[in-house]
Amino acid sequence: MPYEEFRPEFTTVMDSMSRGLLDGQLLEGIVPLVDGLADRLERGARAADIGCGTGHAVNLLARAFPRSTVVGYDLAGDAITAARAEAAAWELTNASFEILDVTALPPDPPFDVVFAFDSIHDQVDPAGVLAAVRRALTPDGVFAMMDIKAATRLEDNLDNPLAPLLYAISTLHCMTVSLAHGGAGLGTVWGRELACEMLEDAGFGAVTVHDVPDDPLDSLYVARLT
Ligand SMILES: C[S@@+](CC[C@H](N)C(=O)[O-])C[C@H]1O[C@@H](n2cnc3c(N)ncnc32)[C@H](O)[C@@H]1O
Repeated sequence: MPYEEFRPEFTTVMDSMSRGLLDGQLLEGIVPLVDGLADRLERGARAADIGCGTGHAVNLLARAFPRSTVVGYDLAGDAITAARAEAAAWELTNASFEILDVTALPPDPPFDVVFAFDSIHDQVDPAGVLAAVRRALTPDGVFAMMDIKAATRLEDNLDNPLAPLLYAISTLHCMTVSLAHGGAGLGTVWGRELACEMLEDAGFGAVTVHDVPDDPLDSLYVARLT
């Protein structure tokens, strides 16, 4: 089943799942996990959020770092409409949104930082998206990829009490939206080992993996070119 079949309900369901975490942890817990990022955003950086959904992360970043410009990309028109409405309500002039398939993320002008919040594992072409992110970063840029905290091998997830939920979400949503277009179908539980391998294959030279404060479901992968 393609993504469109899950909408319009998916848009608000996803927003309600991620909004609380972003409100609580994006600025205080997630950004500080990336060395030097808060300073860079403070000074003024060009940032993107790929698969931004309703854009709450973009708007929080743009409000907190007025010298930076932040652009959110998503395939879903209804999510982008909601994102723009929040940016307008907050009177943000440094947040913008575009409907775009991020396999075609524009490399020029480059970004200092690209964020992805749980938006890589259900891609049709995740390897293509990771390669596009690498091409779109400045040489000292950083990719901050929040994605599901799990191991790649089923047998390595047996002690994880959340594993049944994750595999259920995977088969009922994340795999099918990718497979519907003949995609990779990585699924929710692609896991740390495969994620690191794919980041390396995309040309990232240094990857560190962090727990996300107050969030047992996600890890933050911090990937740089060197
Ligand atoms: C699991 S949702 C996460 C949304 C948002 N980041 C959040 O945390 O609420 C994944 C999002 O990625 C978007 N998406 C999937 N493939 C995409 C692509 N190739 N280009 C742009 N957006 C894409 C979907 O439309 C969806 O909004």
